[in-house]
Amino acid sequence: MKVHFKIKRFNPEKDKKSYWGEYDVEAEESDRVLDALQTVKWEIDGTLNFRRSCAHGICGSDAMRINGRNSLACKLLIRDAVQGGKIVVEPILGLPVIKDLIVDMEPFFAHYRAVMPYLINDTEPGERERLQSPEERARFDDSTKCILCACCTTSCPSFWVRGDYVGPAAIVQAHRFIFDSRDQGAAKRLDVLGEPEGVWRCRTVFNCSEVCPRDIQVTQAIGEVKAALITGRID
Ligand code: SF4
Ligand code: F3S
Ligand code: FES
Repeated sequence: MKVHFKIKRFNPEKDKKSYWGEYDVEAEESDRVLDALQTVKWEIDGTLNFRRSCAHGICGSDAMRINGRNSLACKLLIRDAVQGGKIVVEPILGLPVIKDLIVDMEPFFAHYRAVMPYLINDTEPGERERLQSPEERARFDDSTKCILCACCTTSCPSFWVRGDYVGPAAIVQAHRFIFDSRDQGAAKRLDVLGEPEGVWRCRTVFNCSEVCPRDIQVTQAIGEVKAALITGRID
């Protein structure tokens, strides 16, 4: 099938503002949007820029806004993306555009680092590793699936309005450790998330849950962190 692509282009070295690049691509219905973008780059216009690495939904590097909805280009099939023969591709919103579909991820990763996304426990683990029951492991299983693609944070209206909002991805990462029975850093993370730019900026819009390519219950995780802040309990 022939698909008409409208791709938002911007090269800071020569463009004063962004513009639409338009390309007709021959694609199979079962191709991914990433395949078609690669066809544009390799066969039509080599100046097109976008990030991708694994091409299999693992690395999280090709998040983009496709027909108005954040997706990983390598997971979205042409047949599911195309609307009236057209696919519109833009960079994810709320982060500075570096070039074409590539955004500066540093503000996103600064929020990630702020929640201390690593195990905090200064006690000696003993002769064996720190043990955990299957039930204790299951408590935070969903949030371990995050690949830090930023689809959630950059689809959140609260983040668009205030980029200092820590955002759903960072809260999911905090959730992964707050509810881990082996971790002792929950109080520190809850201090960060209880600040004005923390979880209370979430207005339960649910965009984050709807776009997560790993099907993480993002809004539920945020709700559990809010509950921990209110009750002081992390069970
Ligand atoms: Fe991506 Fe989902 Fe992680 Fe958000 S929670 S960064 S959408 S994988
Ligand atoms: Fe934003 Fe998700 Fe909350 S879209 S407002 S973080 S539920
Ligand atoms: Fe790795 Fe799409 S290229 S997730």
